[in-house]
Amino acid sequence: MKIGRLNHVGVATPDVEAAAKVYAELYGAADATPAKDFPHLGVKVIFVSVPNMQIELIEPLGEDSPIHRFLEKNPKGGQHHMCFEVPDILAARDAMIERGATVLGTGEPYIGAHGVPVIFVHPKNTGGVLIELMQDPAFYDGSEGR
Ligand code: CO
Repeated sequence: MKIGRLNHVGVATPDVEAAAKVYAELYGAADATPAKDFPHLGVKVIFVSVPNMQIELIEPLGEDSPIHRFLEKNPKGGQHHMCFEVPDILAARDAMIERGATVLGTGEPYIGAHGVPVIFVHPKNTGGVLIELMQDPAFYDGSEGR
């Protein structure tokens, strides 16, 4: 298993609309999706497209949101994770476990904000960086896990 393309960088923020405005006005990155709620993930998301990837702006939805805890430590927001594409999410998950890494949650891939299965690898395994692995949409057949 070898990671592929960087798909996006996740940025936690208390306000996705305000954050998207900053990327548009300060950096000229105005190609952004409308804000969308993902109640099952506990997040509200805007994707800002830049030529080689996206910036995933993430705002917590509710107190149980994983982003809520992050913002308690970093009230103004900050870089949250990096996401790399993999050709086979289950093979990637198995490789992570085999190589001694900790896959967060149940360990089963679930559908993320991009509509494809994802897993997260614990930041302790990567020098403090939370890594998301995402099924490459080009190799996705619509099934979720095994
Ligand atoms: Co992400």
